[in-house]
Amino acid sequence: MSNGLEDIIAAETVLSDVDGLAGRLIIRGEPLAALAGRVGYEDVLSLLWDGFFPDLPHDLRQPLGAARARMFEMLHRELPLVANRSAFDAMRSLMALLPDGTDLDSALLLTAAPGVLLSALLRLRAGNQPLTPDTDLDHATDVLRMMGGAAPRPELARALGSYLVTVADHGLNASTFAARVVASTEAGLTSSVLAALGALKGPLHGGAPGPVLDMLDAVGKPENAEAWISAELARGERLMGFGHRIYRVRDPRADALKAALAQISGAVDTNRMALAAAVETAALKALKQHKPDRPLDTNVEFYTAVLLEAVGFPRDCFTAVFATGRVGGWIAHAREQAATGRLIRPKSRYIGPMPKVAA
Ligand code: COA
Repeated sequence: MSNGLEDIIAAETVLSDVDGLAGRLIIRGEPLAALAGRVGYEDVLSLLWDGFFPDLPHDLRQPLGAARARMFEMLHRELPLVANRSAFDAMRSLMALLPDGTDLDSALLLTAAPGVLLSALLRLRAGNQPLTPDTDLDHATDVLRMMGGAAPRPELARALGSYLVTVADHGLNASTFAARVVASTEAGLTSSVLAALGALKGPLHGGAPGPVLDMLDAVGKPENAEAWISAELARGERLMGFGHRIYRVRDPRADALKAALAQISGAVDTNRMALAAAVETAALKALKQHKPDRPLDTNVEFYTAVLLEAVGFPRDCFTAVFATGRVGGWIAHAREQAATGRLIRPKSRYIGPMPKVAA
């Protein structure tokens, strides 16, 4: 028995490889550094989806734009029904209304959904009418435009694009595994994506970046970092944005996001960045003392928090933005599982009481 399925190989994949000792992420043959900040989100979708849809066009920018428009048309009337829920729950409820197909159209609608729904919900929250998608724009630019009501600064759209690329796929993480389990039963892509969304929501997976900002706020200023972190660890709390099941060194996605932040340094509050740097340094030092036998380093969520705040998302939306990027990976894995895998059905060991033998 392996609690948490640690070290168990449960799938073969051509999609991504996470090397936890080398701190390396490969997406379909490309190191993350060759993709993040260099290609758009649509290009990574083309890479991930290649071979899994017979009618996959070479360039997905226009088809994804058209899917955003269809998505908006299908669901924007339902938005007020869920607008008082958390952004993540509202998005998930509406995505449950999508048809449960396995074709390219279903994949595009599901991929368009988080960005369209999240930006529309944010508009409604601010008392504004949701904006219809612009099918000519790339996904990251259009999501920011629909959220903010005007063309975003190009460097912010590029930063969001880098983020979406950086988080698009990452081996057999909890949400991707959930997607593959559902796909192995031959259910449709919406079913897989809904299962994945449920897994992503928790703070040990995609729910960490909001709490990272809460931590930065609680620390307040760089000189408080060491004392605050020591007290937190002494109380038995985990530091959000640090540690990983696979990485024993720094998560390469943290560096990709730090590089994206450097590109938008004008938009990042310099005090926030200095505070983040001080908290990271203090946390790494304290974690080394706290768990000398367990290397705990910075993970993707730490700089995600700083980047998404700088781009303009409220912190309670960060997990929904994560879903906006990861949905492409979930779909690729679901298709790969359906094409090459078997029904996933592990065994449990019964440790409950046995029936009483009749006297
Ligand atoms: N802060 C403090 N201690 C941590 C820690 C953190 N961020 N991450 C792990 N630890 C400690 C655990 O408490 C545990 O100590 P114990 O053996 O005394 O119980 C030990 O390190 C091993 O942790 P474990 O729970 O076995 O690691 P895991 O592989 O199951 O966990 C995470 C990986 C990501 C769930 C974990 O590191 C974590 O909770 N991080 C914070 C949340 C976060 O940033 N999530 C986003 C992940 S991308």
